[in-house]
Amino acid sequence: MKTLLVTGGAGFIGSHVVRKMVLDHPEFHIINLDQLTYAGNLENLTDIQDAPNYRFIRGNIVDGTFLEKLFQEEEIHGVIHLAAESHVDRSIADPMSFINTNIVGTVNLLNACRNAWKDFEGKLFYHISTDEVYGSLGSSGLFTEDTAYDPRSPYSASKASSDHLVRAYHHTYGMPIVISNCSNNYGPNQFPEKLIPLAINNILQMKPIPIYGKGENVRDWLYVEDHATAIELIFRKGSNGRTYNIGGLNEWQNIDLIRLLCKIMDEKLERESGTSEGLITYVKDRAGHDLRYAIDSTRIAEELDWKPSLNFEEGLARTVTWYLENQEWMQRITSGVYQSYYDQQYRDR
Ligand code: NAD
Ligand code: TYD
Repeated sequence: MKTLLVTGGAGFIGSHVVRKMVLDHPEFHIINLDQLTYAGNLENLTDIQDAPNYRFIRGNIVDGTFLEKLFQEEEIHGVIHLAAESHVDRSIADPMSFINTNIVGTVNLLNACRNAWKDFEGKLFYHISTDEVYGSLGSSGLFTEDTAYDPRSPYSASKASSDHLVRAYHHTYGMPIVISNCSNNYGPNQFPEKLIPLAINNILQMKPIPIYGKGENVRDWLYVEDHATAIELIFRKGSNGRTYNIGGLNEWQNIDLIRLLCKIMDEKLERESGTSEGLITYVKDRAGHDLRYAIDSTRIAEELDWKPSLNFEEGLARTVTWYLENQEWMQRITSGVYQSYYDQQYRDR
């Protein structure tokens, strides 16, 4: 039986990837390696935690010695690398943890693979990245796989750096790799520091919904299970050394997205129409706020026959239903440390 190491599998996207790999690939033994930072939560995986082909290991990718030992103990054939610090606002407040996890952690993982994989035959290092490495677009144009890197936040700079290092290990040492760069994800299990779950949580509690600047920034939103489907496909069929952009074909200005969410929430909560919109509060803009991200997914569509399965209204309604049905999940992770962090962030704006 081959072993696949998924890093960051207790996080938002990672939990969907782990579930998909465990259920779709009984021929693989899946190890989920996660440090369980504030963003990691094993509750995201309770439904598959006892599957015979699944195991969780707590560990930090910044600890190179730990990784070397893990690769000596386990015969690992493939890696899907999602572990990262992932929130732009946190990277503005504390860049160093992003340098450590996203850059040093990725190099540690590459080194552990290189040392263990004397022979690269049948091996794969799959690095999960973001469209934010390409920088910020004006009102037109799309990011393609050939767009020059131009990261502008500490988060995107750390992800760009890790992408370059993964490619460098391919070109220098011949390591088999693939990289995908995806647009903004949304859906179940997303930590409520990101726009959509944060707004859902605040609407539920009748708290202000903070909109940075004028709310004119544009993001391309993809339902997380569609991302997991794309990742599974690239893992199986992606060409060695190739990069794939993954997008939702679904651009929204933040303010329009929040208005749609407010409408859905009013309906689901049976509140008077307009109640949630009344919570919209414009706050100080994010420093260096990228105006627009948008992805050209032609390559993955043509080469791997992938496209998003859900339209945004369906995906958002499904997401809201999940958060309403899992309010205890939200309460547990937003109590204590998180709540004081959030209150401080909001006060600072
Ligand atoms: P997340 O913050 O929800 O989860 C990150 C996971 O990594 C957590 O479980 C955390 O415990 C773990 N982790 C963090 N530091 C670690 C360390 N040092 N050692 C081991 N584990 C550690 O992030 P996410 O939104 O699920 O993003 C996953 C990946 O996808 C990231 O690489 C991110 O850059 C990329 N990505 C995210 C999006 C998005 O919209 N969320 C879009 C494109 C790409
Ligand atoms: P976010 O979910 O943090 O993702 P990213 O910064 O990686 O795109 O933010 C999405 C957009 O929403 C981005 O333009 C910033 C904006 N935003 C707000 O207006 N208010 C908020 O409270 C948050 C968290 C984000």
